[in-house]
Formats: sequence, C-alpha cells, structure tokens
Amino acid sequence: MNKLKLSILLLLSYFSANAQNSIKIDPPGKASAEVKISKHIYGHFAEHLGACIYGGFYVGENSKIPNTNGVRNDVVAALKNLKIPNLRWPGGCFADTYHWKDGIGPKEKRPSIVNTWWGGVTENNSFGTHDFLNMCELLGTEPYLAGNIGSGTVQELADWVQYVNFSGESPMSKVRRENGRDKPWKVKFWGIGNEAWGCGGNMTADYYANEYRKYATFVSDWNKSGDLFRIASGANSGDYNWTETLMKNIPGSLLEGVALHHYSVIDWNKKGPSTDFNEQQYFTTMQRALQMEELVTKHSAIMDKYDPQKKIALVVDEWGGWYEVEPGTNPGFLYQQNTMRDAMIAGVTLNIFNNHSDRVRMANLAQAINVLQAVILTKEEKMILTPTYHVMEMYNVHQDATLLPLELKSKDYVMGNQKLPAVSGSASVDAKGLTHISLVNIDSKNAQEISIDLPTSKNASVSGRVLASGKLQDYNSFESPKKIQPAAFKDAKLNAGKLLVKVPPFAVVVLEVK
Ligand code: AHR
Repeated sequence: MNKLKLSILLLLSYFSANAQNSIKIDPPGKASAEVKISKHIYGHFAEHLGACIYGGFYVGENSKIPNTNGVRNDVVAALKNLKIPNLRWPGGCFADTYHWKDGIGPKEKRPSIVNTWWGGVTENNSFGTHDFLNMCELLGTEPYLAGNIGSGTVQELADWVQYVNFSGESPMSKVRRENGRDKPWKVKFWGIGNEAWGCGGNMTADYYANEYRKYATFVSDWNKSGDLFRIASGANSGDYNWTETLMKNIPGSLLEGVALHHYSVIDWNKKGPSTDFNEQQYFTTMQRALQMEELVTKHSAIMDKYDPQKKIALVVDEWGGWYEVEPGTNPGFLYQQNTMRDAMIAGVTLNIFNNHSDRVRMANLAQAINVLQAVILTKEEKMILTPTYHVMEMYNVHQDATLLPLELKSKDYVMGNQKLPAVSGSASVDAKGLTHISLVNIDSKNAQEISIDLPTSKNASVSGRVLASGKLQDYNSFESPKKIQPAAFKDAKLNAGKLLVKVPPFAVVVLEVK
C-alpha cells in the first residue's frame, strides 16, 4: 500500500471514530421537486439613515472621492463583486415618511425635510428616484422600492409606479422625460409599506390587510410585463397572527410576496456592544440568529395553508445583528462595527434561507453601508469590507443554483446548561455542475470534524475557502482593513464519495466539488 493510501485510510478511520457531525447530500433530482435558490435571497437594503446613503453610497458629483454621478466608485466595485441581486430603498421606517416627488427635478430646487426617524437630521433630497434607479443600473442590481403607506396616498404611490415604469405617453412619464430620462426603469419589486404594525402606521393586521388591497390595486403593471412583484409589509419575528391575517384576507391575485423582519438582538433594551462582547452575549446572539429556522418554518406553514402551490414568496426584507451604536456616534445613526460574530450570523442565516428556498425567495440584509450589520463601512475616502461582506461573497456561488437538500447531524455548542447546534450547512449545484457546500461552525472553542456523504464521480476533487480569525471579537478597521479575509481552505479530503472536513472554531467554509 502506498503512503498516500495509508494516510487516507488512517484519516478515514480517525474520522469515523470521532466524527459525530455528519451531512448526507442526495444527488440532484432525488428530492421530490427541484428547488432553485433564488439569487434574490442575497439582497441588500439602503435606507436614508445615518451614513448609509449620504457618505456611504452617495458623495455627490463634486466630491474629491472618485464617483460616477455622485455614487462612490469603490462601493460600486465592491457591491458588483458581491453580485448584489437587488437593493431595497428608501427605507425602512423612512419609507413611510418619504414623498418621492421631493426627490426629482433639479437638485437645488428640491425641498429639504427632517428625517424624523433617524437622528432628526435635515434631508436635502439630493439623492432621489433618478439617483437611486440609475445607481441600480450601475450596480447591475434590481431595485426594490418601498412605497409610503403610512403618510402617503394611493395616488402618490400609483404616480410613482407610472413615473418609473410607463413607456408610453402619460402625465408622469412626461415629467420623467422632462427630468432627463426617456426609457422607464421597469421596476419589478414594490413594497406596500414597511412595518405597518409599528413605524409604518401602528396598524392592526386586519386594518393593514384592507389598506394593502387598496394600494396594491393601483400599483399597475403599466407595460403588461406580467412580472410586477408586490410585497406586503410582514410580521415582526414570531407574530404569526400577522401572516395568517394577510394570507387569509388578501387575494393571491394582488400578492406576490409577504415580508418578515427579524433582527438578532440580545435584548431591545440592552443590546450590548458590537465589538467588546463576552461569550454569553455571543451565545445569545447566535440563539437569536438560529431562531430564523423556526420563524421561516412556521410562517411558511401558515402560507402553505392558503397557498399550497407556493406562488407567494416569503421575503425576509430585514435581517441581521443589532447592537449598541459605536461610542461617540449619533444614536439615531445605528452605526456599528462588524466582527466574526456577524460572520456567524450571516453564515447560519444564509444557510437557513438556502434550505428553505422553496418559500424564502427574497431577503435583504440590514443594511448595506454604515448601518447595523453592514457589508461596507466608509470613513471619508476610505472604505473597508466587513467579515459579513466576505461571507456574502463566499456564498454567492449559491445564487440561482439548484438546492441540494441535506440531512445534518451536529454536535452541540454548549454554554452552561444551554446548547445550540454547532454546525450549520447548505449545498447546491450550479449550472456548470459544480457542487458548493457552505459550512459554519459557531462553537467558539472547538473545531468541528464533519463527515459528508455526497454523490461524486471517481475523479472528483475538492477545493475551498475559509473565513476565520483569532478572536470572535476581531474586525476589520480602517487601520487594519484586511485583518479578516477569506483564505484557501486545506482541511477537506475527498475519497470515494466521502468528504472529511475540519472547520475551525467560529469559522465559515465554502467548498467546491467538481
Ligand atoms: O433597519 C433599521 C430599521 O429597523 C428599519 O428602518 C425598520 O424597518 C426596522 O425597524
């Protein structure tokens, strides 16, 4: 027996004696119905909040920071690299205070307003509809516009749809042309309000369902494209009555998506710091993140009752970690750093979405730049990519790939008398036939050996990337922007349909098998 075979055999026997983490992946086509992981699960969110738009995306045409029509070139390049599929705008809570006509026409003539939700700052409306939609074209991403239901009118929303989508001659398309844009942008995704149960108007589910019916009726498919996608403002985490009420009372002909918001927050009154957290706070954050599994399962089950053919998507259009703001920053700006804990939230959450992609067909991380669990942080001309960015980039191999359902057995990550599954995973096969497996080990101390059964050809090979760091609290800073970044992963061995992997503590690994 040659040396290589012997070491593989020794490795195999070592793993079979010790591995308690196991994954079984069926070949494509074995599952009852093939499911595509919609690329829109990897969507982002840009609100007029703190330095997300102003300073983050947009610096204005006269800025010394390199830009295209006022949008930062470094940000555009970074988001294109992420393959950002859609971008939600202008809020959030801001959306239900936003009157889109304030943000069109010559910039010097646009009125200033007060951003009442976020810091009470003056908003000069220099970034409006044209600026956002042209930026989406630059990014190669689909816009997702959130309409104002809380303080707007049906006519106002109907006009917005006509303004951005109608190619013919009409009052609104005429104004669009006068403002320099001939062709419509053909926006597909429309949110009918945001958090209608809270900042969007403190409505009851029954009241909102009626409002929704009225507004959705006037969101017209101007160009008869047939792919207009209207999204109802959804439940806050475990408010199942909200989803039930919407599904019961809104006819399927008016509804393409139902939203859900869930933040990984330790305690709304005591969120804890973003970097200087302890292990108990880390554990609790992971508990909150993993709760997404129960939430999407239960909300989907309600939707199944009314929509067994799964025509309506569950759209998790706000998710992510939420901590106290960085000391010395405006509490209304929600600016927080982003550590390996956030990489763990991103990894496990995206695995949950992938595994539920029969119903979860769109999601938006909150938020893209300088707010909450951002993928990008900026400081004047500097820009850094966060650990969350790297996870989203590593996982983009799953976009529009076919889901490979998996059976996963995990060891526990134990904290006192509490425990969580240490390992999370999801898998897909892409159009080129490449299989990708994303694995997360949330255990803060122990590496996890995972044995994976998957159907492969004789000549199959495996490669991978890992995101790991020395401390859970590590982050990329403006002084040390590349402290955390993906590296080649060597701890995966493939032999006769058995893949043996060792994932370091609090690390994300994405494997490619070809
Ligand atoms: O993402 C920040 C805020 O969180 C959003 O504006 C709102 O929808 C949610 O409460």
